[in-house]
Amino acid sequence: MKVTVVSRSGREVIKGGLELRDSATVADLQKAIHKRTRKFYPSRQRLTLPLPPGAKERPVVLSYKKNLKDYCDGNSDNLTVVFKDLGPQVSYRTLFFCEYLGPLVLYPVFYYFPVYEFFGYKGERVIHPVQTYALYYWCFHYFKRIMETFFVHRFSHATSPLSNVFRNCSYYWTFGSLIAYYVNHPRYTPVNDLQMKIGFGFGLVCQLANFYCHILLRSLRRPGGNAGYQIPSGFLFNIVTCANYTTEIYQWLGFNVATQTVTGYIFLVVATSIMTNWALAKHRRLKKLFDGKDGRPRYPRRWVILPPFL
Ligand SMILES: NC(=O)c1ccc[n+]([C@@H]2O[C@H](COP(=O)([O-])OP(=O)(O)OC[C@H]3O[C@@H](n4cnc5c(N)ncnc54)[C@H](OP(=O)(O)O)[C@@H]3O)[C@@H](O)[C@H]2O)c1
Repeated sequence: MKVTVVSRSGREVIKGGLELRDSATVADLQKAIHKRTRKFYPSRQRLTLPLPPGAKERPVVLSYKKNLKDYCDGNSDNLTVVFKDLGPQVSYRTLFFCEYLGPLVLYPVFYYFPVYEFFGYKGERVIHPVQTYALYYWCFHYFKRIMETFFVHRFSHATSPLSNVFRNCSYYWTFGSLIAYYVNHPRYTPVNDLQMKIGFGFGLVCQLANFYCHILLRSLRRPGGNAGYQIPSGFLFNIVTCANYTTEIYQWLGFNVATQTVTGYIFLVVATSIMTNWALAKHRRLKKLFDGKDGRPRYPRRWVILPPFL
């Protein structure tokens, strides 16, 4: 069959098009495009079906697993696809690893090394127990996230644009350094013992609950199987759609109750607003996928992220 590959402006990306077997899949087409262009490896390519002029709806994105014939009109042997370069890509694991490695490494620097001398604070620095527990708590959190990235999460997308590495690292590395700076500061004033124990104790329970939520999400996809979405259930998922975000938010609340810094609370507010936006989108997607029509189950009534408010 003949495949014509055009850009969004209608210009031919591969001069003369490509000849492929009738049984070829979208993945085969992507490989053929890569062979001809050299630069555009498969995960950089986004292939869609052309839209009629003036159409407002979103174009159909070609799934790499499907046969090209599935996208042809009737018995036609010709197919036109629209090519978009997604830019350089990195794997999701690389992206997550880079974002979490920064806070994991930078935080202990402020605890162990005499960095405050560079900021004009000379003399002996007294380390309070809360600062030591905060270090353990922080490192445990980011170590757990890295382990989950490699051994728990089953991502639906193989790659993410390289530019996200710079954006996400700026976010995590900057907040990580600022929080570490203030919590380990020589002039830091610790909270009372009871508040510290309540904060860290509550936070730790939430971290363990968050880990369990990730195990439950993992069980929704089989290894190498369909990367689609299922209705999460069990434990806190019976009450709230994004229980993993709920527990993530509460574990940061626990850290902040114990350490009490303005930067820590700002991070909590920013992280909560980011996760709330994502949770609203995930909740909408599950309600749309599981609409109770044509034999599909109906998505149960649940809070989105922070019961009893949202
Ligand atoms: N502090 C912060 O600012 C912040 C921000 C975001 C996240 N986090 C932490 O990082 C963790 C991971 O974040 P994330 O945004 O990647 O989490 P996520 O998308 O909610 O879920 C983690 C994994 O489970 C999969 N999954 C989610 N819902 C599913 C469903 N209904 N059916 C099948 N699989 C499903 C996801 O697949 P997909 O690959 O398809 O998404 C992903 O691989 C969070 O849980 C949270 O602890 C922290």
